[in-house]
Amino acid sequence: MTRSARIVPSLLSADFLHLERELEDVRQADLLHYDVMDGHFVPNLSFGPGILKQVKAATSLPIDTHLMVTNPEDVADAYIDAGSDILTFHVEASADPAALIARIRARGVSAGISLSPDTPAEAVLPFLASVDLVLIMTVYPGFGGQTFIDAMLAKIEAVSGACASLGTDLLIEVDGGIDARTIRRAAQAGANTFVAGSTIFGAADKGAAIAELRRSAEEV
Ligand code: DX5
Ligand code: ZN
Repeated sequence: MTRSARIVPSLLSADFLHLERELEDVRQADLLHYDVMDGHFVPNLSFGPGILKQVKAATSLPIDTHLMVTNPEDVADAYIDAGSDILTFHVEASADPAALIARIRARGVSAGISLSPDTPAEAVLPFLASVDLVLIMTVYPGFGGQTFIDAMLAKIEAVSGACASLGTDLLIEVDGGIDARTIRRAAQAGANTFVAGSTIFGAADKGAAIAELRRSAEEV
């Protein structure tokens, strides 16, 4: 990789009874991933802006919020107010992605756009020039601990190729099923930012898991 890999623990897999300790254990990461699920866009519920506010106060990592919700326009401000540094929403869920990107950025927050496994790369190409991050889901959104979908590698290549030809310096993020093996393949395909939930929070030594992921991605 020409630039260093960003490793992003997903709080969804943390031990919520010991959240402060979990945050301390992942402090060597680059960003903290905060998955918001509404039980409608995805068949699961997670946590809201109130908990985000407390998490923000307890970590120095920038907050990478991933909205898996219908009508992200309705909740964007609440997650910005709660402390998101990057706010990513799904292209499938928004009636007017360009307007929402502009609104997020006008509030001084980085904007990201995401796409689910069944959505082709073409759906996000029109927005690459105006976002800070593109999130390619490598599992169906909704749950941690799923298996990386190999067929997403071609989509990562397509998106990273489009970014290169536009000359934009985006965070190209992948999310779902990332471990020491799949991270190499995603990095090879052009990703530079890697969300990992169960691989990091399921490890006995979370700092070592982050270091191993970083090494694997940067070896490519
Ligand atoms: C899934 C979430 C992911 C999830 C990843 O819908 O967006 O961020 O926490 O978990 P792992 O890394 O365990 O696949
Ligand atoms: Zn996520």
